Amino acid sequence: MSDRRLDRRLRTFHTCIEALFQAGSEQELLQSICDTLVTGGEFTLAWIGYGEDDPGKTVCPVAQAGHGRDFLEDATFSWGGEARGQAPAGTAIRTGKACWVDDIRTDPSFSPWRTAALAHGYASCMAVPFIAGAFDLHGTLNLYSVERHAFDQSTLEHFAGLATCVTRAVMALRGHLADDLTSGVSALRASEERKRAQEALQQAHAELAHVTRVMTLGELAASIAHEINQPLAAIIADANACLHWLDADRPPLDAVRETLTAIANDSNRAAEVITRIRAFLSRSSVPYGPCDPAEVIRGVLPLVHPELRRHGIILETSLASDLPPVMGDRVQLQQVLLNLLMNAAEAMREVLPERRRLVVRSTVEHRDDGPWAVVAVEDAGVGFGQDAGPRLFDAFYTTKPGGLGMGLSISRSIVDAHAGRLWATANPGHGATFHFALPGMR
Ligand SMILES: Nc1ncnc2c1ncn2[C@@H]1O[C@H](COP(=O)(O)OP(=O)(O)OP(=O)(O)O)[C@@H](O)[C@H]1O
Ligand SMILES: [Mg+2]
Repeated sequence: MSDRRLDRRLRTFHTCIEALFQAGSEQELLQSICDTLVTGGEFTLAWIGYGEDDPGKTVCPVAQAGHGRDFLEDATFSWGGEARGQAPAGTAIRTGKACWVDDIRTDPSFSPWRTAALAHGYASCMAVPFIAGAFDLHGTLNLYSVERHAFDQSTLEHFAGLATCVTRAVMALRGHLADDLTSGVSALRASEERKRAQEALQQAHAELAHVTRVMTLGELAASIAHEINQPLAAIIADANACLHWLDADRPPLDAVRETLTAIANDSNRAAEVITRIRAFLSRSSVPYGPCDPAEVIRGVLPLVHPELRRHGIILETSLASDLPPVMGDRVQLQQVLLNLLMNAAEAMREVLPERRRLVVRSTVEHRDDGPWAVVAVEDAGVGFGQDAGPRLFDAFYTTKPGGLGMGLSISRSIVDAHAGRLWATANPGHGATFHFALPGMR
């Protein structure tokens, strides 16, 4: 897929994610998802249907946006097993699996609607079910394109992920509605629903955290690739030198040995970066375990080094050697630190080169309830004003043209889940310091 298309899709997703947080009702949410998907420009028609339990097993459109909405007034889709249930909309509800039609002109499953669809200019379409874990809304998101072969496996996965998030948001909204029920049994059900909805939201948050983690790494990809290329180039040059020496009658074995050692060291350096990246990309829904804050810091620094160097930012570290272990998820805590470091780097891009100095400090604080590990990221960047202070951690608060405004909000929810605290202070001179404190294990 072209970068432009992916970029557009990511923006569309951002707006959809915003809608998840802002919608006041299920109808409003589904409608804004359809509106956003069409505005994104990738699709000409987007509609959402719920499978009815009537004799005809009708797929009833509940929200729609885009070109040719009258198509849906005439077309009846079903999620039953007969001919009218074979199109993606019905199949997705019946089987719980996403599916698509490459070419409406020729695909037999679309024949009952072919003439109308072609008249509206639709060439291909896709349907993804609204399912999240054990929750099945019995509904489907349908996207139509004017291009043939507009869909593929990766598109399907992207939109299936979005549908999962929407499902969780709908569950949460339905859970909130249950707040109003007061009588005995209903109240019990309401509290169960609310609990499930809360779990669903937590999971959606974890998924979102994973997505933003992948996006942050994407931003770093160019400089990391550069970083890995350096040892690779050295390895190639060294290996060629060894081959050359070995051709001699009496090869200089000491030089060969020394060079092979350098090759091994360079390979380890490159492999280390790759290992860090892979660990970081994992979907970490592991149970919390003992975790060394020093290891959290060590894991992140190689990922940001190249980016810092690229912008002429000098990194200083002052790390306590006796940090207490904490209970937690190492990858999530690394994500927090990475967000803070990226923000610090971004805050310093605008300032004079000689001011670009970043300090990562870790200390132990002894409190009444035991030792705490405190990590601070101090920059000399643009800083934040008094008005901005309280809003920094709000979801979608951003002052950056390409920013999503989720980094700090996700970081705070991760630190909260670890029974810790994340806060910001303005430096006396320039810039800001972000701190997080985690209780040591007892
Ligand atoms: N170190 C910093 N110095 C000054 N302002 C900061 C700093 N860190 C964060 N901010 C402010 O807080 C806002 C929110 O930060 P946050 O990380 O949540 O989002 P973002 O960086 O704008 O976008 P993204 O979601 O891509 O991280 C930033 O846009 C910026 O205005
Ligand atoms: Mg950020």
